[in-house]
Amino acid sequence: MDQYVIKGGNPLVGEVDISGAKNAALPILAAAIMPDETVLIENLPDVTDIHAILTAIESVGAQVTHVDRHTVKINGSGISDYRIDGDYIRKIRASYYLLGALLGKIHKAEVVYPGGCNIGLRPIDQHIKGFQGLGAEVELPHGRVYAYADKLTGGHIYMDVVSVGATMNVILASVMAEGTTIIENAAKEPHIVDLANFLNSCGASIRGAGTDVVRIKGVQRLHGTEYTIIPDQIEAGTYMFGAAVTKGDVVVKNVIPKHLESISAKLIEMGCEVEEGDDWVRVVASKPLKRTNVKTLPYPGFPTDMQPQITVALGLTNGSSIVTESLFENRFKYVDELSKMGAHIKVEGNSAIIDGVEGYQGADLSAPDLRAGAALVLAALTADGYSTVENVQYVERGYEDFPAKLKGLGAHIEKVRTDREAARYHFEEVS
Ligand code: EPZ
Repeated sequence: MDQYVIKGGNPLVGEVDISGAKNAALPILAAAIMPDETVLIENLPDVTDIHAILTAIESVGAQVTHVDRHTVKINGSGISDYRIDGDYIRKIRASYYLLGALLGKIHKAEVVYPGGCNIGLRPIDQHIKGFQGLGAEVELPHGRVYAYADKLTGGHIYMDVVSVGATMNVILASVMAEGTTIIENAAKEPHIVDLANFLNSCGASIRGAGTDVVRIKGVQRLHGTEYTIIPDQIEAGTYMFGAAVTKGDVVVKNVIPKHLESISAKLIEMGCEVEEGDDWVRVVASKPLKRTNVKTLPYPGFPTDMQPQITVALGLTNGSSIVTESLFENRFKYVDELSKMGAHIKVEGNSAIIDGVEGYQGADLSAPDLRAGAALVLAALTADGYSTVENVQYVERGYEDFPAKLKGLGAHIEKVRTDREAARYHFEEVS
């Protein structure tokens, strides 16, 4: 099994290019099957979740042409099936966007029940409620979700919880419905704005994306377009925290600094210097990190997808901090791994109580999910000695070229296949 072997101790220094946002690209690729004309999508991250959704849309008859590593052309005029199944799609959460896209386009969709990172219960009741609010029937036959309608009609949908996925799914299903749909208590993440911008560039009429009320006036058809995905806020935030924990100096390039405000604010509170340009942010960590408390919240709050990374950093301050996870009930599984490195963290309910330590020691670690895996890599980069991180397939779901980008910043990290290769890496590094 692939693993990373890491020798800690080098500060991350230099510039890193941020890829397109996975969590924007996934719904946009699903939406790309809705027009009958060709769409060109640029700045896709080359990560495994994206490969999975591309395979899925091909499986229902969309034509996918790979233009280059980060660009595809999609033509959805040949959609001939409404069922999506298979192990490859079972693993990803974003399969649920294919429900909204197929329901919106051909009024019928059957998709395996969404999987994704095991970070909590992750129900889809709000997605179902949204589809039903547009007049669809929804059934759950044997681990699948089947949604169908003779006709979709705009509706007034109040979300009981702020959900990124449900907001986007209702947008997808309603964009060609008859009449106007209003989503109240909508999520406001940048990727929701990106999906709306993409669909509007195909001729949709969506207003209010990025606020908690989104209005969608159904249109009869969508046309082709060319579209560039926004930069990945979480990938950028991960390198920003990489600079903080390794006492480094990193410029994240090709970003939208506004999307990183909650992350920058916490880094400043923790004693880092953060400088912003039009499309870059620089983090310099020249002083000891300071303690603070943080609670994850929907955008514009501090993102749950940055919770493990900030916990790793708070574990290295000279005080006590509390991290409260308010979105997912099972997102502290990595704490046991950090304890192996000498971290002092106690989890009580949805909070982690952290007593900072002077440093971490290298250890053999296992990534429990995508963001926690990336956070363990950051911990290993600061640690004394060598670490290995197993289960890197989770990390590769969302981080393009993670080892290569870290190496570009001066990290000692290598992806290896076997323990023997890992041992050889130790030897080569030392000699
Ligand atoms: C998206 O998940 C992201 N995934 C997650 O990123 C991210 O952590 C999350 O949004 C929050 O920002 C993708 O975009 C593919 P939600 P999603 O619906 O849409 C509850 C990563 O690492 N809820 O906003 O599944 C839910 O249980 C991944 O890239 C319901 O109760 O998240 C949670 O407590 C991990 N009923 C809260 O809402 C529903 O029908 C927010 O979940 C839907 C959600």
